Amino acid sequence: MLEKTLLIIKPDGVKKKLIGKIISRIEKEGFNILNIKFLKLSIEEAKEFYKIHEGKDFYSSLCEFMASGPIVVILLEGENCQRRLRELVGATDPTKAAKGTIRKEFGSSIQENVVHAANPEENVEREIKFFFPEIVI
Ligand code: CDP
Ligand code: MG
Repeated sequence: MLEKTLLIIKPDGVKKKLIGKIISRIEKEGFNILNIKFLKLSIEEAKEFYKIHEGKDFYSSLCEFMASGPIVVILLEGENCQRRLRELVGATDPTKAAKGTIRKEFGSSIQENVVHAANPEENVEREIKFFFPEIVI
């Protein structure tokens, strides 16, 4: 199925100068890039984006981290790209992520894991519209 998904290079990925490497990887895997935005979230925007995690012990710290510096938001399209992107990104904890995944290669902690990928078990459309309200899904 041809579908869209969302990838974010988190503030640690931008600070570590991984934008080029991550985009190159995405292109190599065959995803089509439809749009890219470079921006900094306010703490309120980070809280809204991650509101699914409200109440969890890592919520405040996660929102502060996500608002701590610029991020790169990438809209992708491809066959089954939601599932495929999650596989390419790897498990949340980089030490548990499979070999060859982005988080395994570049992540430094369970929080600073370089990238966010929309989760097909949650609401991908909501995440896309958060950053690209003009997009027709
Ligand atoms: O990003 P992913 O969907 O793999 O994981 P999540 O459970 O939806 O958590 C969202 C983000 O919160 C993670 O990517 C981490 O940056 C952060 N997190 C954390 O700091 N500590 C945890 N124990 C779990 C997640
Ligand atoms: Mg998630």
